[in-house]
Amino acid sequence: MLFDFVLLDKLRAARHIAIFSGAGMSAESGIPTFREAHTGLWAKYRPEDLATPDAFLRDPATVWNWYAWRRDFVRQARPNPGHLAVARLESLVPKVTVITQNVDGLHQRAGSGNVIELHGSILETRCFDCGQPAEDAALAAAAPVQGETPPRCGHCGGLLRPGVVWFGESLPSAAWNRASDVLDDADVFFCIGTSSLVEPAASLPRYARSCGRTVIQINPEATSHDEIAQYILRGKAGEVMPELLAAAWPRA
Ligand code: OAD
Repeated sequence: MLFDFVLLDKLRAARHIAIFSGAGMSAESGIPTFREAHTGLWAKYRPEDLATPDAFLRDPATVWNWYAWRRDFVRQARPNPGHLAVARLESLVPKVTVITQNVDGLHQRAGSGNVIELHGSILETRCFDCGQPAEDAALAAAAPVQGETPPRCGHCGGLLRPGVVWFGESLPSAAWNRASDVLDDADVFFCIGTSSLVEPAASLPRYARSCGRTVIQINPEATSHDEIAQYILRGKAGEVMPELLAAAWPRA
């Protein structure tokens, strides 16, 4: 892939690069995205049955077991060359912040040290009622009471739930505030592997552009953010990102 020389200069001169990522970032790790026609999770399941507080209250066992299936899937997945290239940026640029919609922890496992999880983490568990986190050890020990699934909170006896953000819930305020602060400081804003349909996360690239940041879209498909990106790199994250770093820093 050939890259615009001005883009390469901007990357080399950047003090702070923000990486805004979605499910497409993890597609090459074998983790299904949400909205792709036949393979997306929402092509097979209804989000209103699995990814809302009401769905959990209606059928906690089904929701718990679906996330347990996804969590095991995530644990077996490995960071792909796209995650690794994002992590490698930290050795090439003074500051890199990853703002991810993903809940799989693969950016962290690839070595990224500054990750904001806007939609929480599937690897975390907390009480639906009191919000207390449930450590894995406690979780493992809390064998379902009389076969009950999900397990119950050791503090208040409420039902445990996955530590992700569901539709209809607010994003973690600390994560959102950190992401908003990044927009005021980053020089370059990558938008990688997201359909940019879910607010408020989807507003970040538009805000970055309105703040005068250089916005780079990496996606094999067009999205609504094509119109705000100064650079559109049509391709897969695991292919484009390593090539882009090799072009910008050939001797690094
Ligand atoms: P989507 O499934 O909506 O979009 C995935 C995007 O990744 C699409 O635009 C694909 O074209 C693109 N894509 C696929 N393979 C790729 C690859 N190898 N490299 C780069 N891009 C690729 O997933 P998100 O935009 O992340 O939230 O969805 C946003 C939110 O909606 C998720 O965080 C989740 C979901 O419902 C909640 O559940 C609250």
